[in-house]
Amino acid sequence: MRKNNVYIETYGCQMNVADSEVVMGILQNNGYAFTDQPDNADVILLNTCSIRDNAEQRIYGRLGNLKKYKDDHPGLVLGVLGCMAERLRKDLIEEKKVVDIVIGPDEYRRLPEFIDHAFAGEKGIGVKLSKTETYDDIIPYREDGLSAWISVMRGCDKFCTFCVVPFTRGRERSRSLSSIVDEIALLSKRGFREVSLLGQNVNSYYDEAGYDFADLLAAAAMVDRKIRIRFTTSHPQDLSDKLLYTIAGHPNLCNYIHLPVQSGSNRILELMNRTYTIEHYLDLIDRARNIIPGVSFSTDIISGFPTESLEDHLMTLDVMNKVRYDGAYMFKYSPREGTKAFRMEDDVDEETKTKRLQQIIDLQQRISAEINNALTGTTDIVLVEGFSKKSEQFMSGRTDTNKVVVFPAMDSISPGDYVRVKIIKSTSATLFGDNPEIVDKYQPSEKLTA
Ligand code: SAH
Ligand code: SF4
Ligand code: F3S
Repeated sequence: MRKNNVYIETYGCQMNVADSEVVMGILQNNGYAFTDQPDNADVILLNTCSIRDNAEQRIYGRLGNLKKYKDDHPGLVLGVLGCMAERLRKDLIEEKKVVDIVIGPDEYRRLPEFIDHAFAGEKGIGVKLSKTETYDDIIPYREDGLSAWISVMRGCDKFCTFCVVPFTRGRERSRSLSSIVDEIALLSKRGFREVSLLGQNVNSYYDEAGYDFADLLAAAAMVDRKIRIRFTTSHPQDLSDKLLYTIAGHPNLCNYIHLPVQSGSNRILELMNRTYTIEHYLDLIDRARNIIPGVSFSTDIISGFPTESLEDHLMTLDVMNKVRYDGAYMFKYSPREGTKAFRMEDDVDEETKTKRLQQIIDLQQRISAEINNALTGTTDIVLVEGFSKKSEQFMSGRTDTNKVVVFPAMDSISPGDYVRVKIIKSTSATLFGDNPEIVDKYQPSEKLTA
C-alpha cells in the first residue's frame, strides 16, 4: 500500500494556519490524504514559528515526544516546515536526528518530492526564499466551515529590529486581486461567512495590476455581502485614509483594526525601527475614529526592549490609557539571533520585564472590562459560530469588532446565521446577550444608532 497519510500540526500566527492549508492543497494534488492522529501517519509535519524563544522551545519539546512515533513506526517521515526551518536549517537535521526534511515557507511546492526522497532514506533541506512565490494558483485545502484565512501577501520588508519575520519569510510580494476575489467567490459558494485577509503588513499590498489594499478590500467586500471581511496586520506607518474610507463605506468590512504600537516611547520606537512616532500613531487613531464611527482597535506591545527605562514603560501605559484598546497581545522582549536588536544588550532584567508585562496586562484587562461594561443595554449583530463552550443552552459568536458574545440558544438559530442581540452584561473577555433575533441583512453599523 502506498504510504500517503499525512498529519500536520501548526504553530505560530494565522499566516502559518493559511500556509498549512496551502501545503495540504499541494499534497492533496499529489495523492496524499490527511489524518488527525499522529499514530497512524506516514508523514508528520510541524509548521513552526520562530517569533520568540518560547515558541521555538515548545516545538523542540514536541519534536522530542514525536520521537516515539518514529520508534514505533520505522519509515515514518518527520518534517519541519515554516519559520524555524528557515532560521535553523541544517542544525535541525544534524542536531535533531529525528528530523528528515526541513522546508521553508517558499519551497512548499517541492514538498511531495522531498517526502518521496525521505521515504527512500534521503534527508532533505529546501529553504530558498523567493521574491515571487505567492502560491496564487494553489487552492488551499479547507474543511467546510464559517471562517477562512486567505494570505494576500507574503514576507516583510519593514525590518523592525527585534523581529525574525523578514529573515524567515523573505521579501514582500502580493497575490493578484483577481485570484483573491475568485477564492472568496468559491468560499461563498461553500457557505463560508467570514474571510480574514492576512499579511505581515497588509498596507503594503500592491499587485501587478496596480491595486492597493483598499482596492482589494473593496473588491472583497463586493463578492458576497453576507461574507464579512477582516484583515490583519496593519503597520501604522502606511495605513491610508483611502483604506479608512473604504472600511467605512462597506457594511461587511469589519470595524476592527489590529494596529500594533509595540511601545509608547518615541526613543524605543526609533530603536525598534518602527518608523512612526507616538504623535503620528495617536493622530491615526483619531482619524480612524472620525472616519469609521464605532471602530475598535487591538494592538501588540513588547515589554523590556533593550534600554527600556521606567519612564519609557510609563509612556506605554500612557498610550494604552489614551487609545483604550479593545484588546491587546502583550509579550516580553525575546532576543532573536540575526536581528539588529540582538546586537544591543538585553539589559532589562527578567524580573523587571515580567513586572512591566504584568502591569500592561492588568491595565488592558481593566480597560477591556470598562469598554465592555459600557456596551450594556446596546444591541449588536453577531455571527453565530455554535454552542458556547460551557453549555448547549447557550450559543456564541462574534461581533464585527471581534468580541465574543454568549446568548441563549434557540432551535431556529444555527451556526452561520447573523443575529441581533441585546447586551445585558459583560466581563473583560465576553459579552452576554439576550433576545437573539435572526437578521437576514448584515448591517453591523445599526449598532451605532442603538
Ligand atoms: N507584522 C506584524 C507583527 C507580526 S509578529 C506587525 O508588524 O504588526 C507579532 C507580534 O509579535 C509583534 O507585533 C510583536 O509585538 C511580537 N514580537 C515580534 N518579535 C518579538 C520579539 N523578538 N520579542 C517579543 N515579541 C516579539
Ligand atoms: Fe516583524 Fe516589523 Fe515586519 Fe511586523 S512589520 S513582521 S514586526 S519586521
Ligand atoms: Fe511565527 Fe513565522 Fe508567523 S515566526 S509569527 S509563524 S511569520
